[in-house]
Order: sequence, then structure tokens, then C-alpha cells
Amino acid sequence: MKVIKIGGSILEKFLENDNLYTVIEELNEPVAIVHGGGNYLDNHADSFNYSPKFVTSPEGIRSRYTDRSTLEIFTMVMNLINQKIVLNLNRHGIKAVTLNGILKARRKERLIILNENNRKMAIDGGYTGRVEYSDPIPVRNLMDAGYIPVISPVAFGGDSCLNVDADRAAAYVAGSIKADTLTFLTNVNGLYYEDKIIEKADTAYIKSILKYIGNGMDKKLMASIEALEMGVKQVTISSPFHNLENGTVICNEL
Ligand SMILES: Nc1ncnc2c1ncn2[C@@H]1O[C@H](COP(=O)(O)OP(=O)(O)OP(=O)(O)O)[C@@H](O)[C@H]1O
Ligand SMILES: [Mg+2]
Repeated sequence: MKVIKIGGSILEKFLENDNLYTVIEELNEPVAIVHGGGNYLDNHADSFNYSPKFVTSPEGIRSRYTDRSTLEIFTMVMNLINQKIVLNLNRHGIKAVTLNGILKARRKERLIILNENNRKMAIDGGYTGRVEYSDPIPVRNLMDAGYIPVISPVAFGGDSCLNVDADRAAAYVAGSIKADTLTFLTNVNGLYYEDKIIEKADTAYIKSILKYIGNGMDKKLMASIEALEMGVKQVTISSPFHNLENGTVICNEL
């Protein structure tokens, strides 16, 4: 069993070129898909009357700030992207269905951010959550029946839905079903460090270089470590527009 996370960074290109199904067909094994898509929202912000808001953590990690109206727009856009993926696959005879309601998250009550003077300050956490659970049963049942569940990074927490990190959502989906592999498809063909692509690494090495890795890839590496700790055997980070054989492979131990 395999989980694929399709990065928002490549989604539109994927759907425009209409070649997502070729990647899925080549795998020839049960797959669940988790998708991102924050930048779809940013690219079409005007049509949603939305002004992107971002915050930076003291560790330098930049994330979307989700107030109430952002949450609603984010959820609508994620549903839209999800439908586009499902339709795209169905059109090519691949059975895919939307799966909602499996992710549980804890709302971040407060966020520590860096303000414009580079000073730490605490703000209300808004409607962002940290994924803590993914229900394996609906995912497994759909996969066993030959369907591809397509999962958006929207979770439930407290009495609200929450915007969650899609990489971490993918890690929890993969970990909960004990997937053999988790593949992050993104717009770079793997992890670069000191101007070289890292072809293979174990989690100890990844932890040792994490602080030198930039936005976007840092979250993928943290999610990779979580997935491997939950029992996934191998994580791959690669680009569908390069040779899929390349990319970065991460395991608990090499
Ligand atoms: N050391 C690094 N190696 C490779 N990519 C890096 C590195 N540091 C930062 N990056 C950035 O990480 C980006 C990929 O993550 P990003 O979050 O932008 O895409 P995604 O996860 O595919 O999309 P989304 O977050 O919308 O789902 C690359 O485009 C690259 O600019
Ligand atoms: Mg990302």
C-alpha cells in the first residue's frame, strides 16, 4: 500500500497536462492520495476575494494564518481541488472518491510568531491545527475495494474544521494504514543539501540537517520523520516532471 501526497506546487500543472492518471497507473498497487493546494488559493486569491496572510515562527517556518474567513475559503478551495482530482482520475477509468472526516487535529490556541521587528510575539492560533489522528478504517476499506481515496488537508478539532499541514496529514494517513511507502510529489526532484541532491538518507541524518533546510522542504522532512516513526517503511520525495526513479529516499535506517 502506498500513499501519495500531491503538492499544491504541482497540482495545476498536473491537472492541466492531464497526466496525473499516468503516474497512478504506473504504480499498479493500492494508493491513497492526499493533496495540498494552499498556493491554488494564493494564485486565485482575487476570484475568492481573499488576501493571503502568512506568519513566521521563531524557527523561521512560514505558514498561512487562518482566521475564520480564511478557514471557510480554504475549505471551499480544498473541496474544489479534491473534486478536480477525483474527476480527472475518473475520466481515465480510475476509481477515485473524495474521503472527508478522517483527520482529527488539535487547534493551536496560540501561535508564537516573529513580528516585523523580528521579535517574538504570541497571537491567537486561529483555525490551524496539528494533525493527531487519521482513521485507518475508511481508507483501508476503500483501498481494499479498489478505490483511491482522495483526502484534503482539512481536519476536525474541537467544534470546528481546521486547516492542517498537508505533508503531516499525508504522514498520518500513511502511518495509520501502515503503508509501505509515502511519496511526496512536489516541484523539486528531492532534497538538496550543499548543492547536491541527497539520494538516500536515514532519519538521524535528516534530523541533523533539518535546521539548514528552507521553507516547504522542512515540513516535508518533519512529516517524513513522523511517518517513518509511525511504521511507514520508506519515504520518497520526488517530482513527477523529472525521472520518478530519482529523488530522495528516506528510511529509518539505511
Ligand atoms: N534544501 C531544499 N531542497 C529542496 N527544496 C527546498 C529546499 N529548501 C527549500 N526548498 C523548497 O521546498 C519547495 C517544495 O515545498 P512546497 O511546500 O513549496 O511545495 P509542495 O509541498 O509541493 O506544495 P504544498 O505545500 O502547496 O502542498 C521547493 O520548491 C523548494 O523551493
Ligand atoms: Mg508544502
